Amino acid sequence: MTRIAITLGALLVAFAASAVELSDAQRADIEERIKPVGEVCMQGDSSCGGAAAAAASGPRSGKDVFDSACMACHSTGAGGAPKMGDVAAWVDRIAKGMDTLHQHGLQGVPGTGMIAKGGCMSCSDEEVMAAVDYMVENSQ
Ligand code: HEC
Repeated sequence: MTRIAITLGALLVAFAASAVELSDAQRADIEERIKPVGEVCMQGDSSCGGAAAAAASGPRSGKDVFDSACMACHSTGAGGAPKMGDVAAWVDRIAKGMDTLHQHGLQGVPGTGMIAKGGCMSCSDEEVMAAVDYMVENSQ
């Protein structure tokens, strides 16, 4: 029993001694390794996470918008929607000019299944126009 206690004591002393012997570089190394994974970032603090947050909330690409908001109709032809990649279905539409197509993307085509912004109310105007560009680029 006593021997175990002594051994433990010796171990503790050895451990304490080694803790003291850490060089500054080792200490910095350990601090780096154990620092919190996610640091709390307060809103409006541009010193941390600002760039990443801005990038994440920036406009989505035309492809992203198409894939989430337009594909349901424009890849199937549902309700008479011109399918992306169907050159014949797009040629007369493209002839109307991009301004008109952007307008129709934003405001819809009255009396058809093409409602304003294709129903994507969370899409910005810029994002809807990018989706129109994406569809047109891939349909000629
Ligand atoms: C609910 C089905 C539906 C969804 C979702 C939809 N569209 Fe359409 N879209 C249509 C239909 C139907 C037409 C054909 C309208 C017509 O008869 O001219 C059309 C036509 C268009 C045209 C051609 C307009 C013209 O002047 O010829 C554009 C551009 C367009 N859609 C963009 C989009 C974009 C961008 C999205 C996604 C943000 C989208 N649509 C989502 C159904 C849809």
